[in-house]
Amino acid sequence: MNLYKNYKFLKEEIRKLKLKKNAIILAHFYQLPEIQEVADFIGDSLELARKAKETDADIIVVCGVYFMAETAKIINPTRKVLIPYYKAGCLMADMATKEEILEYKKNNPDTFVVTYVNSSADVKAVSDICCTSANAVKIVEKLVQNGIKKFLFVPDKNLGSYVKEKIPKDIEMELWNGYCYVHDQVSKEDVIFYRERFPKCTIAVHPECKKEVRDLADFVGSTSQIVKFVKQTTSDIIVVGTEEGIIHYLKKIAPNKVFYSLHRRFICDAMKLITLPRLYNCLKNEMYEIRLDEKLLEEARKPIEKMLKLS
Ligand code: 13P
Ligand code: SF4
Repeated sequence: MNLYKNYKFLKEEIRKLKLKKNAIILAHFYQLPEIQEVADFIGDSLELARKAKETDADIIVVCGVYFMAETAKIINPTRKVLIPYYKAGCLMADMATKEEILEYKKNNPDTFVVTYVNSSADVKAVSDICCTSANAVKIVEKLVQNGIKKFLFVPDKNLGSYVKEKIPKDIEMELWNGYCYVHDQVSKEDVIFYRERFPKCTIAVHPECKKEVRDLADFVGSTSQIVKFVKQTTSDIIVVGTEEGIIHYLKKIAPNKVFYSLHRRFICDAMKLITLPRLYNCLKNEMYEIRLDEKLLEEARKPIEKMLKLS
């Protein structure tokens, strides 16, 4: 069987298995085109979490990285949550551990810990609140309005510095030294290259990019915010400053626009570990299941629920 026929067969089998097992497939924007095509819902981290919370499917398959599947399990613990490949881990999520956060809290008991969802369940469980890139500014602004003046932002120093720029200068915010290797590799030279090559282009970047990149961009936003921006902009040439999987989605919603990736290898290797054969295997054999103990589920749920309430 050639690859095309094989993929066609797998897509049909995946659709049949979804119906038979009352399963829902939630996919992140960075997923491979063939995964996006069989997904029931495509979204950013916040939207995937919301969808996982409200679904009445018996099985939730998360096509994304491990923390996204963990988040789905934490907020909808009675469902079977599966990820097609257990090694699809976000490298930034590994840059902070529960022990490190507990140690920090011991030395800084009056600091409020805001944790990006790109983190492990263990780290979430010892955090005061979670946020995603779509709501980070809003969440911190609300906390400031409630009188909180001292924060630690974990683990992304770039998203943290973006949030810090948006809040009053007298608010203290310490940044963890984590970063996304995919976004952090982009430099201002990449932006300048496109500005010179296409003077009429519009450059939209994710806040996980460095400040020098954000400062030169036309728009900064989470993946879903970039999608919204593309829908309403009149610009015909858009340079995308986030993982290139999103370009497949953008081309579908704006087929007359031209898209370029801001970096020659804007690829999250973990996201690309989710393939069609692995998704098929996942649904057929109901693996790999996310299992977390009751206490951890309960503790990690609190900061996520707080986030969902505030955003
Ligand atoms: P979004 O929440 O904007 O989709 O970002 C998730 C992510 O992992 C970015 O690298
Ligand atoms: Fe993690 Fe970066 Fe991949 Fe997003 S793009 S999942 S932050 S490694």
